[in-house]
Amino acid sequence: ERKHRIAEIASSIRVIPDFPKPGVMFQDITTLLLDPKAFGDAVELFVERYRDQRISVVAGVEARGFIFGPPIALAIGAKFVPLRKPKKLPGEVISEEYLLEYGADKIEMHVGAVQPTDRAIVIDDLIATGGTLRAAVKLLERVGAEVVECACVIELPELKGREKLGDIPLFVLVNGA
Ligand code: PRP
Repeated sequence: ERKHRIAEIASSIRVIPDFPKPGVMFQDITTLLLDPKAFGDAVELFVERYRDQRISVVAGVEARGFIFGPPIALAIGAKFVPLRKPKKLPGEVISEEYLLEYGADKIEMHVGAVQPTDRAIVIDDLIATGGTLRAAVKLLERVGAEVVECACVIELPELKGREKLGDIPLFVLVNGA
């Protein structure tokens, strides 16, 4: 049942202390990808949640949103839209900057990929401070799309990233430490 599937997903995620720097407990989803049952269940749990919600866009955040987003988009019959790091997309883009612990980062979306009539979800592997997902939501809202929800495999609840999303709901499969 659902609880068992969630537990298997949680235990397939490897935690690597002090990566990429001291004090960070890195949540490594590559070990989830090695387990087709756990990976399939993760995708399926998102698909079950979104299949009857008239979602027309699944926006995935580089890099690991590109792993979970496409199988979900295909299963629910939605467009997949990659939200990329700067200077990767070849067409005209809009971009949104967000602050990191030190410095700033940016994500970009192709102009024309998303329409004001679209109903979107945003997918990533993990929410930490929430800065990345908030920037992603802003990109979609700037072109007039409705962002129905953000979805992640893992949430680090102590960092309160959920609060940065304001009114946009956040759905997660597991909590990380
Ligand atoms: C990680 C993760 C999210 C983001 C979450 O990506 O995959 O995209 O951080 O952090 P936040 O909630 O504090 O914004 P990372 O910065 O490692 O980039 P990568 O996926 O390109 O490696």
